Amino acid sequence: MRHCFGEFLVRDWCMDDASSITRYANNRKIWNNLRDAFPYPYCEEDAVSYISGALRTEPRVAYAIATKSVAIGSIGLMPGKDVHRFSAELGYWLAEPFWGRGIMTEAVKAVSEYGLETLGFSRIYAEPYATNPASARVLEKSGFALEGIMCASVFKDGQVLDQFLYAKVKSEIRLRNHSARQNSLEPIRADSFSKPFPRADCMSLQI
Ligand SMILES: CC(C)(COP(=O)(O)OP(=O)(O)OC[C@H]1O[C@@H](n2cnc3c(N)ncnc32)[C@H](O)[C@@H]1OP(=O)(O)O)[C@@H](O)C(=O)NCCC(=O)NCCS
Repeated sequence: MRHCFGEFLVRDWCMDDASSITRYANNRKIWNNLRDAFPYPYCEEDAVSYISGALRTEPRVAYAIATKSVAIGSIGLMPGKDVHRFSAELGYWLAEPFWGRGIMTEAVKAVSEYGLETLGFSRIYAEPYATNPASARVLEKSGFALEGIMCASVFKDGQVLDQFLYAKVKSEIRLRNHSARQNSLEPIRADSFSKPFPRADCMSLQI
């Protein structure tokens, strides 16, 4: 994919990105908000291995965030497996000197729309740590809905943390499932919670 916004763009990786990515990724503030599988310290071999993996994957689901000359961040989708194969987890990081300029919001909007409209996913989700309000804000600005909080789901840097669960769902599927759920839930709610349990049923349950 290739999406330009102002002086920045989201584009496919190239092997020449390895040196700038190594410089920017080697930052504990970035590692602290990602999985432990993201290396720290981050060396050039890590960048080369990541970029070669991204370039081997078809269809491409991992992209560089870049200026006209160098890569300054990373954004990618991790497709689920089995029954989750139409869902993908979104992950991203940006070089610290570029934080706070709206760059990741533009990148998240572009990649999530590409994932839903072009790659055919039904659902794109992200699970930022509850200690990462900037990432939560990026997702909210990009049209993701907060679905819940996963309590004590992460152990990172010696601490047990909560995670937010944010998702963006293909609009026609969200609407269809929402109305189906309302139709099926209404009678169950009324029967289960507003009427007392009939005595005959109670007795037959005891047998
Ligand atoms: C999180 C991250 C991707 C944000 O990228 P960015 O380009 O700076 O994000 P944007 O500029 O598009 O938006 C950031 C928003 O967060 C807000 N924000 C920043 N720090 C905040 C804080 N401590 N509390 C609340 N909001 C905060 C900003 O004000 C901005 O919102 P606004 O436009 O309403 O003012 C970047 O900081 C990063 O790479 N962090 C390390 C890795 C990481 O956290 N990855 C995500 C893992 S889920």
